[in-house]
Amino acid sequence: MKVGVLTGGGDCPGLNAVIRSVVRKGVGAYGFDFVGVRDGWLGLLQGDVRPLDVSGVRGILPRGGTILGSSRTNPFKHEDGLRRIQDTLARYEVDALVVIGGEDTLGVATELSRQGIHLVGVPKTIDNDVSGTDYTFGFDTAVGIATEAIDRLHTTAESHMRTLVVELMGRHSGWIALHAGIAGGANVILIPERPFDIDQVCAQVKSRFMINYAPIVVVAEGAVPREGRMILKDQSVDEFEHVRLSGVGEWLAREISERTGKDARTTVLGHIQRGGTPSAFDRWLATRFGLHAIDTVKDGDFGVMVALEGTRIVRLPLSDVTATTKLVDPSLYDEFEVFFG
Ligand code: F6P
Repeated sequence: MKVGVLTGGGDCPGLNAVIRSVVRKGVGAYGFDFVGVRDGWLGLLQGDVRPLDVSGVRGILPRGGTILGSSRTNPFKHEDGLRRIQDTLARYEVDALVVIGGEDTLGVATELSRQGIHLVGVPKTIDNDVSGTDYTFGFDTAVGIATEAIDRLHTTAESHMRTLVVELMGRHSGWIALHAGIAGGANVILIPERPFDIDQVCAQVKSRFMINYAPIVVVAEGAVPREGRMILKDQSVDEFEHVRLSGVGEWLAREISERTGKDARTTVLGHIQRGGTPSAFDRWLATRFGLHAIDTVKDGDFGVMVALEGTRIVRLPLSDVTATTKLVDPSLYDEFEVFFG
């Protein structure tokens, strides 16, 4: 059996750990051959497929990014996309694919699986918003980095008695903002799932100043004010029709500053949240996902995604998990009410 491995979408700490685990078990336990597909779906469109063996995955466990490269290519936006993918798989005699990606990459995988391509999905994203899995790998690392940033911002906020706004990633969901905000002791946490009231945010900021405490406002990049629209710096969209986010943090600092009469500044953490070495938990989870993904290929159980359910790894139909996005439950957010303001 020859298996192709690809990584699509934004990079994420732990991708290399999955690749290593898939190849190590595939070769060691099942005697499979592997090829690496370059740059996600783009590699299959362009026929950019290279041999991948155990020596090629040595030393990559703690490395961030992906040795295979990644892109946000949507093959269905390209002429003859499906046929070109089928041709590449036939040319390289690839029997099955392990597709490591988030909502967009797995959405394409769902459609390709319907078209008869043999594949197994592995959920990746720092956003933690893939349905069916308790956690995606990459999330824990991102939360750790964001929490450390908030810790550091507390001391500078206190020294200058100013508001510091921290804009974190999270397009549709506020998982990173909520976890890092709670871990870092933020006073205001704004997430896409709950449109915010700028008057209430300013009231919460003011109440902090009244007790001589410098407020930290954590905002997910996809958070929106109750009145008005999403605040964006850039209107460009990718092949999955997603706009490039960022801008809400700067807008908030301006509004807070004007309405409270006190200095407010913004830190946009951006890709720092996705870069560098994965946490121990993400290496553990990514390794387990990889082992179970190649077992799934061995069993010929295609059209599924491996997922974490409690402490068990399970297999779920791709068509189910890609039908919805996993959002922060309102009751979970409300648990922390006492810390806000
Ligand atoms: O999907 C993961 C993610 O990091 C989102 O949180 C963010 O909106 C997006 O990717 C940024 O994408 P890019 O790196 O392509 O700008």
